Amino acid sequence: MTGLLFAILAGALMTSPDSAPGWNTLTGERPVIIAHRGASGERPEHTLAAYSLAIEQGADFIEPDLVMTRDGVLIVRHDRYLSTTTDVSAHPEFADRRVEKEGRQDWWAEDFTLEEIKTLRAVQPREGRAKDYDGQFEIPSFEEVLALRARASEEAGRIIGVYPETKHPAALAALGLDPAPELARILKAHGLDGADAPVFVQSFEPESLVRLDAMIEAPLIQLVFPKSEMDPALPFESSVALEQIPAYADGVGPNKFLVIDRAGNDTGFVARAHALGLAVHPWTFRDDDPPPDGLTGEAEIRRALEIGVDGVFTDFPATGAAARDR
Ligand code: G3P
Ligand code: CA
Repeated sequence: MTGLLFAILAGALMTSPDSAPGWNTLTGERPVIIAHRGASGERPEHTLAAYSLAIEQGADFIEPDLVMTRDGVLIVRHDRYLSTTTDVSAHPEFADRRVEKEGRQDWWAEDFTLEEIKTLRAVQPREGRAKDYDGQFEIPSFEEVLALRARASEEAGRIIGVYPETKHPAALAALGLDPAPELARILKAHGLDGADAPVFVQSFEPESLVRLDAMIEAPLIQLVFPKSEMDPALPFESSVALEQIPAYADGVGPNKFLVIDRAGNDTGFVARAHALGLAVHPWTFRDDDPPPDGLTGEAEIRRALEIGVDGVFTDFPATGAAARDR
């Protein structure tokens, strides 16, 4: 996708009267609020309820993480294992599906059909968050999320974007469940594969994005984290060199501490990425996990926006929208 088309897409999504000159973003347009796993601070993550609330709260994009079922359906979960975000452990009929993979005893999405997944209910996985909605909501398929997106866009009178991330694409492909062609097929079927579609496709795995770049025209975002997270002996630098990314992607999604360090200092990451023509969408901003230098969640987002990030992933989209629009 070209920088020009990217700018057109960004402009098309940013039609609010709140748009104003003065943003330090790549295009000068206002930054986007990305509902990380939906409004996951207030509802069980990756449920239609979490996405609907995010849209009500002003999110520009909803973010589904994607894994695959045994019958090849893309469903919305952050992890291939199911115990932390569903009630699978309370289903005696699935007791014998608990197996060890990758050093973890768990139930795994790729061992269940969609029909079986639909008998599970989502739960709140994060300590300290309300569990009032546990047991109420199904696990959606990706196509159900896209249907919600289309419906909500009509009802809200604005274009809601979708920001899918295939999780562990190489590992799934090795199991015979390659998510990339299925993701491309679904985006095409819903008219969301074009360069001007309200879509960002993200991945931590560069090879996955390179493959997707040949399948779809929609904008691609390379996710990165500090190398030091893999090995403390490695430097606190991006896991993928910024200079490599423009060859196949349109932006970068960094761990937020790559942008503003734990002491609250601008690292220069945004300026370096913008100089390469890359949009910057850091993650993850959480009201209930504010930064170590004592700012509130809203003030933390405002500081990132002042530096010029092009969007933020947040579990609390209402806070993100307030930080941007106030
Ligand atoms: O996709 C951006 C951010 O969500 C990456 O972290 O682990 O929450 O998917 P994760
Ligand atoms: Ca994600």
